[in-house]
Amino acid sequence: MKAYKKISEAAIEPGTKVLVRCDFNVPISNGEVTDDFRIQQSLETIRFLADRGAVVLLISHIESGEGTLQPVLPVLQKLLPNNTVAFCTDVLETCAETIAHVQPGSIILSENIRLYDGEKKNDAEFAKSLRALADMYVKEAFSVSHRSHATVSALPKLFGSKTFAGFQFDREISMLSIAFNAPKPFIFILGGAKFDTKLPLIKRFMPEADLILVGGALAHNFYIERGDSIGTSLVSPGQFETATMTQSGKVIVPEEVIIETDKATKQVRTGNPHELTATERIVDAAPSALETLIPHLQTAACVVWNGPLGSYEEGYGESTLLLARLIAEHAPKDAKKIVGGGDTLAAIQSAGVFADYTFVSTGGGAMLDFLSAGTIPGLEALS
Ligand code: 3PG
Repeated sequence: MKAYKKISEAAIEPGTKVLVRCDFNVPISNGEVTDDFRIQQSLETIRFLADRGAVVLLISHIESGEGTLQPVLPVLQKLLPNNTVAFCTDVLETCAETIAHVQPGSIILSENIRLYDGEKKNDAEFAKSLRALADMYVKEAFSVSHRSHATVSALPKLFGSKTFAGFQFDREISMLSIAFNAPKPFIFILGGAKFDTKLPLIKRFMPEADLILVGGALAHNFYIERGDSIGTSLVSPGQFETATMTQSGKVIVPEEVIIETDKATKQVRTGNPHELTATERIVDAAPSALETLIPHLQTAACVVWNGPLGSYEEGYGESTLLLARLIAEHAPKDAKKIVGGGDTLAAIQSAGVFADYTFVSTGGGAMLDFLSAGTIPGLEALS
């Protein structure tokens, strides 16, 4: 595992300019932040720096809403009532001027960094312009650290030994690393779609996990490869030799599912994955399919879960909510319960069981990439 310096080791004096790469890519509806989890998780780092008199420049991307970080500003200001939070519309043109004139302990939020072409291109010249803005770099954005983008990868390298991991980033690395040497019995649950991108993860945990539950559209590839008629259910193109996985006895898929019989009216029925008509599709696991999991959860020492078991964004979230509750209720209190992914987080919050989990990652794709490869570009870029 790549070693890195933590923010607690940084020498911060009043007026030290610190660039913090955050991930404020949060859900926005009607111009308002609807879930501030990622913002909340970055507060410890921001407060730590501001309390020591640093001038804190927050850099983030946002893809939701109108693609502007403006809605994040009032949320930050509310959460940080003792600090002034300013907004900088152009990181290259106006930010340096703002930084030069604010008081120690001030916070500046800069506009969506992806408005610059150089960000996604990991452009060296763009990174160099940003390097000039600060004395120190703090990586707090675990959830975008699977991207080789300029403020994630090229920029921290330019800060050399003045590069530090923020509190949440450090927690992400240490808590998710539990999965690499998980206490047993170890249950791994993977949902969502895009089998090709998630296959390495199943392979990665096959030797160590005692049970792997594959749900969501990922399960459809298992059904189709064993010859089930799954109608118009979503499948990832390709052959993934899923039979070998199920033959191992470790990998299971839901054997009862929710089938949408009419898309327009959203009419559904419960059935088996091999008995769909040509026009029907699987939209969720049936609650009954999760019952087989209960005895395994009762003896589990570690449960790692990412991704919904149904088409959550279309409103088919029942089994994902149920799973959130089952893990909270049935896994022993001292079992490690580690989860991540946007829809998974939403389910844990709606089920009211957030506090029962050992660790909730801010990452979706970043969690998956880190678990599958053991590292991600944003971690490699730290000194
Ligand atoms: C996320 O929401 O997973 C991160 O912010 C990364 O966003 P991206 O998928 O747009 O790169």
